Amino acid sequence: ILIISSPLHTKLGNMIFLMDLQMMILDVIYFILRNSVRIVMRPRTKPIDGELVLITGAGGGLGRLFAQEFTKQGAEVVLWDINSSSNEQTAKLVREMGGKASTYTVDVTNKEDVYRNADLVRKDLGRDVTILVNNAGVVAGERMLDCPDEMVERTMKVNCHALFWTVKAFLPQMKAQDHGHIVTIASVLGLFSTACDYCASKFAAVGFHESLAHELLAEQVEGVKTTLVCPYIVDTGMFEGCKIRYVLHLNACISFVSQNNIVGCSRFIIFSTTSVPSPFRHFKLTGANSPIAVHSLFL
Ligand SMILES: *[C@@H]1O[C@H](CO)[C@@H](O)[C@H](O)[C@H]1NC(C)=O
Repeated sequence: ILIISSPLHTKLGNMIFLMDLQMMILDVIYFILRNSVRIVMRPRTKPIDGELVLITGAGGGLGRLFAQEFTKQGAEVVLWDINSSSNEQTAKLVREMGGKASTYTVDVTNKEDVYRNADLVRKDLGRDVTILVNNAGVVAGERMLDCPDEMVERTMKVNCHALFWTVKAFLPQMKAQDHGHIVTIASVLGLFSTACDYCASKFAAVGFHESLAHELLAEQVEGVKTTLVCPYIVDTGMFEGCKIRYVLHLNACISFVSQNNIVGCSRFIIFSTTSVPSPFRHFKLTGANSPIAVHSLFL
């Protein structure tokens, strides 16, 4: 929009800018205070028993742990992975816990495959997915010029493009019922740091989450929540060989996150709340559709 500058317009523009700035500062103060209180007074967890939780990349790493944790909380899980044998192993673990699991072999980078399997899930289970956990992720871990083109493309397709396909497949029903939750598993490496293909794709995932949250906010869709999870480097094998520089002897907070922390992470998802990052907390989340400015500042 082109605004022809006149003294009046400039003055008005300045005033609007100052008001915006004031509002933002007030927002930031409000969220810092609110979330500081919540560190002590934890919000109640959202009951998820009976929800249908779809997890991508369920065959290993975080995906498997999420499947087990959501099962413990009483949810039924739908497991998607490109590797059917590792996916079946996750399903077996879930069933041993007394949970219900269905497995689908899906390549999330292939949108037709995603749409077809989404329809299949709906048909097989006779109901809609209410929580979508976009967890599938890959890393090439090579320097920019050493990284083969196909690996760069694969990382972007799995870590970023796939988010669009799965959300397009499941969000319409969530919106129609005004009930649902979309969880994006990004990474702290999506906020800063250096691993060319991985960081770029995870920055994209963070941006995807923010746009989605904002869109739902703008459309006043109150029943569909979003959560961004930025785990620190987790010892699932994805980052084998990755070294962490110890700074200021803060070993406790700058170490690899053990897989046990995932339990805590799952709890955070079902708090579905915004949390203030602290150096002693490995998982930094932004919860239910809070304003974008606050998101970026808190992360
Ligand atoms: C699939 O998973 C199995 C079991 O975890 C593993 O042994 C196999 O190497 C995986 N296949 C591929 C293609 O990654």
